[in-house]
Amino acid sequence: MNKQPIGMFDSGVGGLTVFSEVIKCLPNEDIIYLGDTKNFPYGSKSKEAIIELSKKCVDFLISKNVKLIIIACGTATSQSLEELRKIYNIPIIGIIEPTIEYLKKKDVKNVGIIATQGTIKSNSWENNIKKSMKNVNVYNKACSLLAPMAEEGWVNNDVAYYTIKEYMKDFNNIDTLILGCTHYPLFKDLIKEELGENVDIVNTGEKLAKYLKKYLTKNNIENVNKEPKYNLYLTDTECNFINVANKLIQNNKIEKISKVNF
Ligand code: DGL
Repeated sequence: MNKQPIGMFDSGVGGLTVFSEVIKCLPNEDIIYLGDTKNFPYGSKSKEAIIELSKKCVDFLISKNVKLIIIACGTATSQSLEELRKIYNIPIIGIIEPTIEYLKKKDVKNVGIIATQGTIKSNSWENNIKKSMKNVNVYNKACSLLAPMAEEGWVNNDVAYYTIKEYMKDFNNIDTLILGCTHYPLFKDLIKEELGENVDIVNTGEKLAKYLKKYLTKNNIENVNKEPKYNLYLTDTECNFINVANKLIQNNKIEKISKVNF
């Protein structure tokens, strides 16, 4: 058993889709969540910039005495995870490996990936899929408007409906769609409506939560807290984060949301 909290970071509200899956799966863990809202969006930044920002996030979370770090962000997973693992000793888990574990167990032939521009440019998803699975066709699409819309709370209005419709129109033949940016599960219902029931829409946070549970058990570092504490930190509070967070996490366990200076 290990009573230290789990650390998590993203550029904003996207990582809360991971957070909400983790607390469902692991209801006894304390969590420290960092939203780097001052530097949102991550999706249009260079790899070098993402590595620098990710290092700051990791340093902050380590200063809060976390036992492990979750990169609750597709862009940071695809561009900085490798580098971070070279620098830090603490276990760091991103959203790609847990999702590949899931895909390997099912019969996938045509997989679509939607993510930020940076993630798609990095080719991380496609490389990882092709490394571990044979005869899979991969179709990539950057959906740059979705994360800013999610930050604005525009996830189920007309603008969201037509934007999703436009982004989904090339995906005629896929059996699986990976939501490669953690902001995108907020649009899951609209995406499902557009692609139909037969396409498996993969919420990476859900796969990460299951993977994390196994990881904690295997390494004997899970917590058995009866009253877990959730502390959220933002690098800028002049944003819509709190409104969106309140809709997403409907419980009263958030101790507080504090501003942190980067
Ligand atoms: N939620 C993030 C991701 O998974 C970042 C989106 C952004 O900051 O552009 O890629």
